[in-house]
This record gives sequence, structure tokens and C-alpha cells, in this order.
Amino acid sequence: MGDEQRAELLDGPAGEDAAARPPSAFLEVRDLKIHFPTDDGLVKSVDGLSFTLERGRTLGIVGESGSGKSVTSLGILGLHNRRNARVSGEIWLDGKELVGASPDDVRRLRGREMAMIFQDPLSAMHPFYTVGHQIIEAYRVHNDVSKKVARKHAIDMLGRVGIPKPDRRVDDYPHQFSGGMRQRAMIAMALSCDPELLIADEPTTALDVTVQAQILDLIRDLQQEFNSAIIMITHDLGVVAELSDDVLVMYAGRCVEYTSVDDAFHRPLHPYTWGLLGSMPRLDRARSERLNPIKGSPPSLINVPQGCAFNPRCAYAALNEGRSESERPELVELEPGHSAACHLPLEKRREIWDAEIRPTL
Ligand SMILES: Nc1ncnc2c1ncn2[C@@H]1O[C@H](COP(=O)(O)OP(=O)(O)O)[C@@H](O)[C@H]1O
Ligand code: SF4
Ligand SMILES: [Mg+2]
Repeated sequence: MGDEQRAELLDGPAGEDAAARPPSAFLEVRDLKIHFPTDDGLVKSVDGLSFTLERGRTLGIVGESGSGKSVTSLGILGLHNRRNARVSGEIWLDGKELVGASPDDVRRLRGREMAMIFQDPLSAMHPFYTVGHQIIEAYRVHNDVSKKVARKHAIDMLGRVGIPKPDRRVDDYPHQFSGGMRQRAMIAMALSCDPELLIADEPTTALDVTVQAQILDLIRDLQQEFNSAIIMITHDLGVVAELSDDVLVMYAGRCVEYTSVDDAFHRPLHPYTWGLLGSMPRLDRARSERLNPIKGSPPSLINVPQGCAFNPRCAYAALNEGRSESERPELVELEPGHSAACHLPLEKRREIWDAEIRPTL
């Protein structure tokens, strides 16, 4: 038996103790793990993630490509095939626990209580059906209304997301829409059932800057109108700054910093967050000025480095007497509502931020 399986046996299924405490938050994720056994080894795509989210609020989940963001969002929606994904932990949505729920129960919640906007609308839309047909069908799965009423609702939603002449465009096929319009149509589809939780996974990554800004504005307006909770998944801290209340920074399947958007930008306490801030494109920077990307690349999630997963790329790893390479730092709440996982003494981190990092941003 491998260490992994042994650990799983010891951990057992989602803890009964925790389940006995009903969460007060609208969404509460506790110690979520999503692992994939593969021929090359166990891929720990999400390895112990916890966070909460209230209605009307937005949580930004940020991290480089491959850090486990999409696996997290699919996990919350219950979209992983249980045959090849090992999912553990708890996901409480409005008082219901989803990890232990039956696939049928989770399916019923999808669309009605939670919906997702993907980076690539074409992956979410069927090419052979009109945009309107797809919104109508999505709406009718959860609402017992006639086709006529659903069609009117679809036109209404397309208009709401800014599609011009929605009564005509409703009969277009996805390929007849531009990228930005398709993204709007997918938002219309996701919102057509008035979900309380909306997960947007890199919703603007494929779009040019102007359209990107319009889509973010649209999501913000719709959130105010519908009071939905939003998880905004992105590799771009700029998107987080635009839209989020809180930020969860992910590295190698784990949370390295979790705090308010204000603290993430003005008092970040993790070297990886510093790196993300340093590599953020800024409008007030000349185009010729080079960005300062984080050196190296994220680890494979099969062979996550010993100790702190960020240590091979971290400029401060040598300051911890070997602990960065040997001991995994736990996520610790350092100030109310501000957690980070790093061995550096807190005072040292504040000092580095003030003296070395902030002046360069
Ligand atoms: N079904 C799967 N089987 C094995 N590995 C997977 C599977 N889905 C995702 N992964 C791996 O999990 C890691 C995280 O992926 P993902 O969540 O898509 O990252 P991102 O942060 O870019 O969205 C990647 O290394 C990816 O290869
Ligand atoms: S624990 Fe060490 S390697 Fe990890 S972020 Fe902190 S200083 Fe860097
Ligand atoms: Mg992704």
C-alpha cells in the first residue's frame, strides 16, 4: 500500500465531526482534494483547499496555468468523473453538502443553483443548435414553461447581456457570433436560470482588452442585479482587482495566500503573490517596459517539490535554514481574514515587501 492510500484510509471519508457543524456561509469548501490516479503517478490537482463565499460577493482564485483552478471549479460543480477522480472534503452550498451527494442531486443543482462560464464558449455550446435553442433548453430543464415563454425569456436574456437585435440573433448559430458575442451568449445561458453561484473560469482570457473590460462590467452589473456569489477564476491579477472582494492565490494545487483584495494588493504576505504582482501587466506602464515574470515554471502536480512547493523558484527560500526545502508551510491566519503559507517570519516578510517589492511595482 502506498503512502497515499494509507493516508486516505486514515483520513477516511469526509469527516463526520465537520459535517455536524452546519456552515453559516452560503458556500463553504472544506479541505477539498481532487486527485487523479494516472499511469505516471497520482496527480494532486487540488490538495486541501478551504474557503467561504457569501451571496453578492466575488472570490478571485488566481494562479498560473496548471495550478488546479479549473479542476477546482469543475469539482464544485460536480463535473468530475468519479471513476477517475478521487474527490474528498466537503462542499457546502446553501446548507447542502455536495461531495457526498448523489450525482443526480448535484445535477439538479447545476443550472438551477450554480452555473459556469467557461473560457471557450464553443466548448459549452453545441455547434448544431441555435444559440436561442440552447438557452431555451437550459431554461426548460429547470422551469416548467412552454417553449414560447422560454423563447421570450431567451430573447430577454440575450438583450440583457448586450446582444443587439436579440429577437433576430436568437436564431443564429454559435459560429455566427463574434468571440465577444459568444461569451455574452454563454453568460446569458448561465444566468438564464438565475443561479445563486456563478463560476467564471477565465471568462475573458480569449478576448481582446476592450471586450474583456465590457464582459467584466457586464458580470459586475448582473451580479448586483441577481445578488449571486461569484468565483472568478483567472491567471490575471488585473481581473481580480476589477471584480473581486477576496482573493485566493493557488500554487501547485494548494492555497498559499487567502485575503481581501485590498490586502492582496497592498499588504501581500507570500513571495508567490509578490511574484504575481510583479508580473502583472499595467496600463500605466509603457509597452516597451518588460514585465518581470516569475522565474522558472510551476511544478508537475505528480512531483511537487518537497517542503514548500514554491521553493525552487523563490528568492527567499535560503533564509529559512532549510525549512523551505524540507517542511511544508501550513496556511496560517496572520491577521484577521489574512492567511498565508510561508516559513519566513512575518516581520521579515513585511520588511521585504516594504523595502524590496513594493518600490518595484
Ligand atoms: N482528468 C485529469 N487527469 C489527470 N490530470 C488532470 C486531469 N485534469 C486536470 N489534470 C491536471 O491537473 C493540473 C491542474 O489543472 P487545471 O486545474 O486545469 O489547471 P489551471 O489552474 O490551469 O486551470 C494540471 O497539471 C492538469 O494536467
Ligand atoms: S516557505 Fe520558503 S520557499 Fe516557500 S514561499 Fe516562503 S520563503 Fe519562499
Ligand atoms: Mg484552467
